Amino acid sequence: MTNHEADQETERVPRHIAIVMDGNGRWARKRLMPRQAGHRAGAEAVRRVVETAGNMGVEALTLFAFSSENWSRPTEEISVLMELFMRTLEKESARLHENNVRICVMGQRERLGRQLREQIEAAEALTADNTGMTLVIAASYGGRWDIVQACQAIAQRARDGELDPEKGD
Ligand code: FPP
Repeated sequence: MTNHEADQETERVPRHIAIVMDGNGRWARKRLMPRQAGHRAGAEAVRRVVETAGNMGVEALTLFAFSSENWSRPTEEISVLMELFMRTLEKESARLHENNVRICVMGQRERLGRQLREQIEAAEALTADNTGMTLVIAASYGGRWDIVQACQAIAQRARDGELDPEKGD
């Protein structure tokens, strides 16, 4: 490949990729396996996706891992997912840090368990100054929730006098 072709190749890399982690149940059903086997395979696939995106030079990778609506799933399944999320964070944070990846979690984190929240805070603090790819994990995230919390934050800033609604900046 010539340098010119290599430059073109780089230009084709998207700056931000967002993935909805869907289809774990269907993946498992096709193989006559339990749903949680699908979730485990999904978490495993995520490792490969993160590594590949990082190597390709993607600036930000957002993973929609658990939506606000997912709280209506059976308690057993929610526990499996939370456990998987926690174990993955625990296992992968150091390696992500070595690879200069910054971890950010977005979502209604007060709904997550205390242990998981602590794990998230530790991973975010460890990787806060990293300058490579930003890995955003949406957990207990919903579009409605996001709009409401953004409006609340803006209203709070206006009330605190930090923001002038007349100025619009
Ligand atoms: C959707 O598949 C998948 C989820 C609700 C959970 C995905 C989350 C994990 C695997 C936990 C680990 C997360 C990270 C970021 C390491 P589905 O059950 O809706 O399957 P279907 O679409 O086939 O019904």
